[in-house]
Amino acid sequence: MALRVFCPRVMSPSALLLLLPLLLLAGVPLAAAATRPALWPLPVSVQQTPNLLYLSPVSFEITHGLDSSAGPDCFLLQDAFRRYHQYVFGYSENPDVSRMSSSVGTEIQKLVVVITSDSECNAYPNITSDESYKLVVQASVAVLEARKVWGALRGLETFSQLVYRDSYGAYVINETEVTDFPRFPFRGILIDTSRHYLPLKTILMTLDAMAFNKFNVLHWHIVDDNSFPYQSMAFPELSGKGAFSHAHVYTHTDIRHVLDYARLRGIRVIPEFDSPGHTNAWGKGQENLLTACYAGSQKTGFFGPVNPILNTTYDFLSTFFKEVSQVFPDNYIHLGGDEVDFSCWKSNPDVTKFMEEQGFGQSYEKLESYYIQKLVDIVSSTNKGNLVWQEVFDNKVKLNPQTTIVEVWKGSYYEKELSDVTAAGFATVLLSPWYLDYISYGQDWRRYYYVEPLQFSGTSTQKELVLGGTAALWGEYVDATNLMPRLWPRASAVGERLWSSKQVRDENDAYNRLTEHRCRMVRRGIPAEPLYVGYCEL
Ligand SMILES: *[C@@H]1O[C@H](CO)[C@@H](O)[C@H](O)[C@H]1NC(C)=O
Ligand SMILES: *[C@@H]1O[C@H](CO)[C@@H](O)[C@H](O)[C@H]1NC(C)=O
Ligand SMILES: *[C@@H]1O[C@H](CO)[C@@H](O)[C@H](O)[C@H]1NC(C)=O
Repeated sequence: MALRVFCPRVMSPSALLLLLPLLLLAGVPLAAAATRPALWPLPVSVQQTPNLLYLSPVSFEITHGLDSSAGPDCFLLQDAFRRYHQYVFGYSENPDVSRMSSSVGTEIQKLVVVITSDSECNAYPNITSDESYKLVVQASVAVLEARKVWGALRGLETFSQLVYRDSYGAYVINETEVTDFPRFPFRGILIDTSRHYLPLKTILMTLDAMAFNKFNVLHWHIVDDNSFPYQSMAFPELSGKGAFSHAHVYTHTDIRHVLDYARLRGIRVIPEFDSPGHTNAWGKGQENLLTACYAGSQKTGFFGPVNPILNTTYDFLSTFFKEVSQVFPDNYIHLGGDEVDFSCWKSNPDVTKFMEEQGFGQSYEKLESYYIQKLVDIVSSTNKGNLVWQEVFDNKVKLNPQTTIVEVWKGSYYEKELSDVTAAGFATVLLSPWYLDYISYGQDWRRYYYVEPLQFSGTSTQKELVLGGTAALWGEYVDATNLMPRLWPRASAVGERLWSSKQVRDENDAYNRLTEHRCRMVRRGIPAEPLYVGYCEL
């Protein structure tokens, strides 16, 4: 189907000035639709006509189709209908009806949502979740059709982006037909709650913004060297001693809240418990877990990575990951495995002796493999798949391509790494070009947008193993004060790259749509930073 470029309906600044007092008098809610439509990320196919349809904020409704496999008992959709009604019309209790009368034209009375297959209303999303949908907007009823609720969620977002306001302030939508589905099934945002604690509110707001950009995976790098905010039932001392303070923890109730909120938006939550490196904070509440470092024959008092030679280590990991696998419903857990510093292992005489016994020679990669293989076995026994950072693959740990996904994060030569990882038969997720914690002057979103994830040498079978990518915002310099503006709209560029068709690459068109999309996020309560000079209408 043809892809039409939008001709945005521009309102002159003077017209807006005239309108402004009117809008204020009428108490028009600020969260409502914009004065021109802008789609982000761009759907696979959009066809529009100049036929305008009017929506009444008082009577317009989003409802279940009679032949839908989901009904009013599907809370996920009910909640989404309520949310999207508000995104379109704002939060005002008393919408201004007078304006509707001034508009002539055909009214569109409702959006009917039809789920055509087993709805999966009460399920958690996973890598195979169907997010496709078809949206037909015509008088006097619009129809959103999807096989599963996941597609309905994406289609509701698109519908809300299509509604705008004419120069009288009336809500309008062009006659439209959209067919849409994601290019990649894994579209992630990485947040880091170890370098700084992020309040629950910030995490939930991130999930909202993710839904506005059709992201579907929250990669929650929950613990690291600096703090251990995950409150374990089996090992309460881990956060008791390893969190920044008793207030800076995530209880199981907090986590449930995040999981529910994410599920309702079609977002998976994959927790990362990185080891054997990056575990300083684990050692505070769990004695003998970390390797004691030596200077000559003396202990230095410092600790290195997890001690891989003790049976107690694996007893601990078994109990711990059994709990984690029950707390987090996703069928994948991220096991980390990056940046293991071998120097402490090298200094420890017991480790040296173990290396000799095992015949590892001087290869500390083999010791790392020994550890990771045991860890992977433990996690596999809970019926979960796992994700690991690329070093685990680079260091030749024996992994099962059926259950392990390798994440490519290193900056240089990531094309070569993608090629190697997929040649070995592993599914992969790309992060390298999307480290949003690196900031610079100017419009760096263009750099993220420019990336083509499949541009590496490999067969089509290899390319199919690229599941998608993740925009990573590591937390060394990020807390609740700056997370949102640093993430949005920069991550939106990655969102479109991973959702839209490969040929959607026009930067000027992207700039125009993204500018408007950013204003829409701001209206919806997301403090997204500006792309460049300009202003937001309304
Ligand atoms: C939407 O309708 C308006 C009013 O007829 C028209 O000016 C505009 O070009 C239409 N948009 C598209 C993309 O067809
Ligand atoms: C994904 O979820 C659906 C619905 O719960 C389920 O039927 C399917 O088996 C799951 N797929 C995987 C790969 O887990
Ligand atoms: C550790 O476990 C192995 C395998 O189960 C066993 O052979 C060994 O004796 C155990 N070591 C200690 C110190 O308990």
